[in-house]
Amino acid sequence: MTREGFWLFAYGSLMARPRLPWRERMEATMPGWTRRFWQGSHDHRGRPGAPGRVLTLVPEPDRGAPPCVGFLYFLPPAVARGALTRLDYREKNGYVRTFHPVIDRFGTAREALVYLAGPGNPAWLGPAPLSDLAAQICAAEGPSGTNTAYLFDLHRTLARLGLEDPHVSDLVGAVRARLNPA
Ligand code: SIN
Repeated sequence: MTREGFWLFAYGSLMARPRLPWRERMEATMPGWTRRFWQGSHDHRGRPGAPGRVLTLVPEPDRGAPPCVGFLYFLPPAVARGALTRLDYREKNGYVRTFHPVIDRFGTAREALVYLAGPGNPAWLGPAPLSDLAAQICAAEGPSGTNTAYLFDLHRTLARLGLEDPHVSDLVGAVRARLNPA
């Protein structure tokens, strides 16, 4: 993998704030999966005892639902090993390296590395009502900044691409309503 370089599919903070020495970047889709703010963050957007909520991908039960759209980055051989070390460190709070077929913007299927946090990992929080998700995101802050900034950065990145993810935009609406009550 590090000898040939690798493709990384990004759907959360790695889309909005990659901080990676990528050589190529393009839009791509990961069919059958969808974003959810179901993973706890004790190290970036929250703290031990007061975790924030960040994204993971979960299987999409609705077969007719649109695929998850993210970025596909190519990390060339010269930087691959260092990039993997940095990624493993950054995603250490419950995410594991997985490999999935993704479709690049030319329609080509590629095997990509995806950092996924599944149910049962120590930082897993799981589903909750929208108002609870919003309340937790409004309250949380960690070494990487506020949890609201994580949400708004991603929403802005998706909007720039002309994309809307209903889970993300519903949450942005609920968080804005809490921050600016009428
Ligand atoms: C990703 O962005 O691909 C992984 C999840 C995150 O770091 O937000």
